[in-house]
Amino acid sequence: MNIVITGGAGFIGGNFVYYMLKTRPADKIICYDALTYAGNMATLKEAAENKNFVFVRGDIADREAVYRLFEEEKPDIIVNFAAESHVDRSIENPEIFLRTNILGTQVLLDACRKYGIKRYHQVSTDEVYGDLPLDRPDMFFTEKTNLHTSSPYSASKAGADLLVSAYHRTYGVPTTISRCSNNYGPYHFPEKLIPLMIINALHDKKLPVYGEGLNVRDWLYVEDHCAAISMILQKGKEGEVYNVGGHNEQRNIDVVKIILKELNRSETLIEHVTDRKGHDRRYAIDPTKIMTELGWQPTTKFADGIKLTIKWYLEHKSWWEDIISGEYRDYYAKMYDNR
Ligand code: NAD
Ligand code: TYD
Repeated sequence: MNIVITGGAGFIGGNFVYYMLKTRPADKIICYDALTYAGNMATLKEAAENKNFVFVRGDIADREAVYRLFEEEKPDIIVNFAAESHVDRSIENPEIFLRTNILGTQVLLDACRKYGIKRYHQVSTDEVYGDLPLDRPDMFFTEKTNLHTSSPYSASKAGADLLVSAYHRTYGVPTTISRCSNNYGPYHFPEKLIPLMIINALHDKKLPVYGEGLNVRDWLYVEDHCAAISMILQKGKEGEVYNVGGHNEQRNIDVVKIILKELNRSETLIEHVTDRKGHDRRYAIDPTKIMTELGWQPTTKFADGIKLTIKWYLEHKSWWEDIISGEYRDYYAKMYDNR
């Protein structure tokens, strides 16, 4: 099979490239990625040595380039990770989120209609369900929860999901959608909570916690997400949505304290800063459907996964040092100086 992974030079897509090369050695894995600020060829260094791997640089919203990809690579499966993915950036500049996340998805779906496809899989997010109250630990997102978005990021992801469902129903494109909770693990771009806190702590720099830090995220180790998508490709039903999460809710402040403890740094590094606009309070996935219908189970507990992640950042300094010494410095100054 020819499997196109869009956004494979990013965090989860990169991990998925390695997961697929490992678990499906008979398949050809084609990474299609525009290499935006979030895409990094260093992430794909070892993959590039594998004879089953091909990298094509391109934008999912560039129709000509996507059609060329389909003509040249003749994909059987598309897994779409390509997206603008950072909520804070979407608050600063929503437009690129609409272009990539919605129009880019539409171009990929049009290509599937035109050339045919065995499966189009959309990698979505639990953020399309909006948020849950902090004082209702009994409430969870199921696949039937209404879409109710808060940020331009989540609105653009919800728009893409609706298009995917429309292309399935109207044109019969064989689609599936997964909506996963927050991921963490190797190759996570340093603008996101966990890598940002690890890297700041290593530099004895302040750790900027938005507001009181009481917002709750449901963390899943990235390899468990990769396994879930792979299982959906094999056993998932066309037209279906699958929520992915491992019941691992943590308050931001507690995650930050765990990182400080692991790195032997003082909690005095914590700095409470102005809260994010429209900040979602709590995300919590009910993964019953994927567990019962497909037999998926998460395997890495947060206590172990966070240790593995910290170890990875300690052992791969050059990967993130190259990032934080580039344009990321201007981003950091803009977002955090005088916050
Ligand atoms: P990321 O920002 O680390 O990577 C995104 C990748 O997409 C980069 O390699 C980038 O170069 C590429 N890209 C961006 N615009 C593109 C375009 N127009 N054409 C082609 N490539 C383009 O993102 P991530 O955290 O790995 O997230 C991947 C997907 O998973 C996204 O769709 C995101 O919405 C979803 N998701 C993420 C999380 C999470 O916790 N990070 C959780 C659930 C779902
Ligand atoms: P993030 O990693 O941006 O993921 P998302 O917003 O998609 O859940 O943020 C995770 C949580 O951490 C979120 O509640 C915002 C908070 N946060 C901070 O407190 N400080 C920071 O510097 C960042 C980047 C995030």
